[in-house]
Amino acid sequence: MAARTLLTAGITGVGMSYPDHIMTNHDLEAMVETNDQWIVERTGIRERRIAEKGTGASVYGAKAAIQALEHAGLRPDQVDQIIVPTVTPDMVFPPTACLIQEMIGAENAWGYDLEAACSGFLFSLQNARAQVETGAAKRVLVIGTEIMSAILDWEDRNTCILFGDGAGAVVVEAIDEDQVGIRDSILHCDGSGAKFLYQGAGGSRIPASAESVAAGQHFVHQEGRDVFKFAVKGMTAITEEILTRNGLTGSDVKLLVPHQANIRIIEAVQRRLELSDEQVMVTIDRFGNTTAGSIPMALRVAQDEGRLKPGDLVVLCAFGAGFTWGATLVRWTAS
Ligand code: UT7
Repeated sequence: MAARTLLTAGITGVGMSYPDHIMTNHDLEAMVETNDQWIVERTGIRERRIAEKGTGASVYGAKAAIQALEHAGLRPDQVDQIIVPTVTPDMVFPPTACLIQEMIGAENAWGYDLEAACSGFLFSLQNARAQVETGAAKRVLVIGTEIMSAILDWEDRNTCILFGDGAGAVVVEAIDEDQVGIRDSILHCDGSGAKFLYQGAGGSRIPASAESVAAGQHFVHQEGRDVFKFAVKGMTAITEEILTRNGLTGSDVKLLVPHQANIRIIEAVQRRLELSDEQVMVTIDRFGNTTAGSIPMALRVAQDEGRLKPGDLVVLCAFGAGFTWGATLVRWTAS
């Protein structure tokens, strides 16, 4: 039997969507013991978008998906798979992917949610890539969408100032081999980090109860200092590793698009790779940390600002709860 050749997978469209409502650091000053200067200096965040109470992650996910499809010049019925990385699905089940499938009219698609926290977009992109490379799927939508405001304790200054709501989406499909596309990916997880960042209740271990609600166990819990240390180490090492094993250095990179958790983490990666400010995408100032939405949202902003052209070498990297972390190397193919 002849060996089957792999196709080449690339990103051909990117989209984003987020709530209109802006919550500034000054707004937060009226809610918890904090101040604009601390938040800007320690995190880089100036404002974030917050959805109306009761809005599901599917709402912005669907809008981001439509924009990504328009960018790729595709109709929803041409999509055959939808992957939705999220930690804030509309409901524990059914999958938010199914809700979005119905909302956008992707009548020929099957889909599922993928939970890998802030690394969810990179983990999903790798799945999409594999599906397209093997020919199992022709066109895959990857939609990172989060309503983080729904799971935050608005009385906990350690966490409520960090996150925001929003969605980003990409279309992954087969491209010409010489365009390269999604070139390499390194992904890791280490469950010994689970104790540092989690939402304790609402799963099978602590189902929702009057006690779990009273104890605030449905909110994000983070040991910030510990996560920070692991994030700096993990993200810098993996970004360096993906370049080295592909015979590249920082000077080959057109744009680093890191997960947007803290400007100080981003700057640590930037320093290690000796990148200029022009080579690093920062959106945390306007959106905060949108978990699985942050990288695809940053890609759309980069596209809109003219910072991405076909052929550009782009490095994506992330670190998040789990712990999960990863880096992906892409030759940009959306125009
Ligand atoms: O996306 C998933 C992965 N997540 C991350 O990568 C997040 C990683 N962690 C971080 O980004 C940072 O650890 C934080 C931004 C969460 C915190 O920054 P930090 O520099 O590590 O601050 P800290 O937790 O060490 O706190 C320093 C001080 C403390 O006061 P004392 O104990 O020194 O008196 C805190 O109580 O800052 C205080 N503090 C605040 N002050 C004003 C903590 N939160 C606030 C606040 N406003 N919002």
